[in-house]
Amino acid sequence: MLRVGLIGFGFMGRMHFDNYERLMQEMHNVQLVAICDLKIEQLKNEKANGNMATDKEIYDLSGYRLYERIEDMLASEQLDMIDITLPTPLHADLASSLLQAGYHVLCEKPAARTAAEAQKMSDAALSSGKKLMIGQCLRFWPAYEYLKEAVSSRRFGNVTGAHFFRGSGAPGGWFMNGALSGGCLLDMHIHDTDMIQWLFGKPERVSTIGNNVVSEQGYDIVSTHYDYGDGKLINAQADWTLEGDHGFEMSYRVNFEKGNILFKNNEVKVNPNNEAGFTAQLEPDTGYYRELLYFINAITNDQTIDISSPESSVVTLKIIEAEEQSANLKGQWVSLTS
Ligand SMILES: NC(=O)c1ccc[n+]([C@@H]2O[C@H](COP(=O)([O-])OP(=O)(O)OC[C@H]3O[C@@H](n4cnc5c(N)ncnc54)[C@H](O)[C@@H]3O)[C@@H](O)[C@H]2O)c1
Repeated sequence: MLRVGLIGFGFMGRMHFDNYERLMQEMHNVQLVAICDLKIEQLKNEKANGNMATDKEIYDLSGYRLYERIEDMLASEQLDMIDITLPTPLHADLASSLLQAGYHVLCEKPAARTAAEAQKMSDAALSSGKKLMIGQCLRFWPAYEYLKEAVSSRRFGNVTGAHFFRGSGAPGGWFMNGALSGGCLLDMHIHDTDMIQWLFGKPERVSTIGNNVVSEQGYDIVSTHYDYGDGKLINAQADWTLEGDHGFEMSYRVNFEKGNILFKNNEVKVNPNNEAGFTAQLEPDTGYYRELLYFINAITNDQTIDISSPESSVVTLKIIEAEEQSANLKGQWVSLTS
């Protein structure tokens, strides 16, 4: 049985916690044993804030051993795997040292604050022989898996154009300091950047327009064109200043030579050019549940992490850094071919 320690019990920590509870109820090869958060005593009786609802408002953590300090948890527990759901700047050093100490590590996206730090994490995974996976959850989200299959199989021919969108109200707290979170570009838009890289590979160049509205440093509204040199028009936008009743939204519209696929309001609509359109039948589970199950199975069966590999996360961060450079240059194209 894989014994897991969860570090961070904020919004994503709770999201992972909900899924560990489900995986344990379903008798998968995993046992969450310990939870660590600087503010665990306060948080266990508090509601979480985030752009999606977690299962509960108040959590009963009486079945778990709780720690405020990571060192104390590691010294007291026999763990096989650590799940990091800490603020982004804390990912790289911790993940690298945990890998070197012999733990398998699941780390929330973005892998790290910079591509160079993500590279160190990837190197640590390689040299330690332990598994590292970054929680780029869209790669496990049924609506995006459906798209991946359609693009790879070319059942509607080649992609001619695509638009991806993510938006919500401002997340608040440390996220609003761009030096820590990387702003909307690194924190929210990265989901679509990573998806575009997964679907089409690394673009030749990117052009990004960014608007700073509410953050201390960093962009809050961004729009990027990804140029693959073959004419297909790929654009992704993100906006975390959609306040009022807007709520969280993720969507895409992808056009192919022989049809188009739209994801909106949690539904994938497929429109072949010369046949009636239909709604795709998708698995109901979220990417959060499915990525955990995938990682647990990969450790259990000693399989390579080939869906959201550390190497691939480094490439995504390099694209994000090119996007930031372009935004700073008011949309000038920035090359990724070197
Ligand atoms: N995959 C997704 O869809 C998704 C969604 C939201 C956030 N995230 C990512 O997850 C990560 C965490 O985001 P969040 O929204 O949960 O943040 P959060 O602020 O809600 O939670 C972070 C928690 O870490 C704790 N913490 C900070 N420093 C610590 C330390 N040294 N030791 C122990 N605990 C410490 C804080 O007390 C807090 O409870 C970020 O990297 C973010 O980008 C991913």
